[in-house]
Amino acid sequence: MTQEGHQASVASAYSATAGAWQRGPGRIYDRMAAVVVERSPVTVTGGSALDVGAGTGAASRALLRAGAAQVVAVDAAAGMLAHDAARRPPAAVADALALPFADASFDVTVAAFSLNHLPDPGAGLAEAARVTRSGGAVLASAYAADDFHPVKGAVESALAAAGWSPAAWYDKVRTAAVPKLATLEAGRRAASLAGLDADVVAIRVPFPDLDAGGLVAWRMGMAQHAPFVASLGVGERAAVAADALARLGGEWPTLERSIILVRAQVH
Ligand SMILES: C[S@@+](CC[C@H](N)C(=O)[O-])C[C@H]1O[C@@H](n2cnc3c(N)ncnc32)[C@H](O)[C@@H]1O
Repeated sequence: MTQEGHQASVASAYSATAGAWQRGPGRIYDRMAAVVVERSPVTVTGGSALDVGAGTGAASRALLRAGAAQVVAVDAAAGMLAHDAARRPPAAVADALALPFADASFDVTVAAFSLNHLPDPGAGLAEAARVTRSGGAVLASAYAADDFHPVKGAVESALAAAGWSPAAWYDKVRTAAVPKLATLEAGRRAASLAGLDADVVAIRVPFPDLDAGGLVAWRMGMAQHAPFVASLGVGERAAVAADALARLGGEWPTLERSIILVRAQVH
């Protein structure tokens, strides 16, 4: 598959998930975006900000709560941007590798869990830095290699038993893109390829309030599952969720997402 074909498949899977995303993964991603924005090396208050790979708007909301004066969002998936669009900042469909903005347009550029879809996240960081003014900041977060919870396997097994199998785009993202930002060393390498003098940190974000139903909804709403889940009838969907809950069992650890954050001031 060409890179363009792969990119179109990623965007189409995310577009298919939008509503399910915000009902499941959304509550997790909103909190993680707040953690990312809190760690900006420059103040967000009063400035302009770009949300790259904005999805349903987690980082846009975090930036506005932190006092950003103007936020603009871009994503490759029109469906994700369309979700609740009337209450969100202006948005455009665009590729993280070709942002439709002039150099030095924003004070802060945030890419929350989006550059980890790129086989070359360094190129995504360089493009984020290009549109950020000197003295501003780039923040890019990704899942760490040790980001584990048994609900991931429980939901995947329940879906596979119902007929789901991973799409080619998902295999490519998980093998050829995710590892490139999944450790401190990988994050530092990507930042250095982008010419950024970055502070790369590992962060754990706990979700003690998430019950088993919330955990299963998180996984079922992920883009790699959502198109298949959407093809199921209401009863079939409930049966898969019940199977996933049974596979998870009665005892499971509190979810604690493990993330890598690249934070850099642009010179
Ligand atoms: C895991 S979701 C995260 C969404 C949002 N930032 C959040 O934290 O909830 C990843 C998003 O990145 C977008 N994305 C993936 N590859 C992209 C690319 N090359 N350019 C722009 N957006 C991309 C997807 O469409 C999706 O909306």
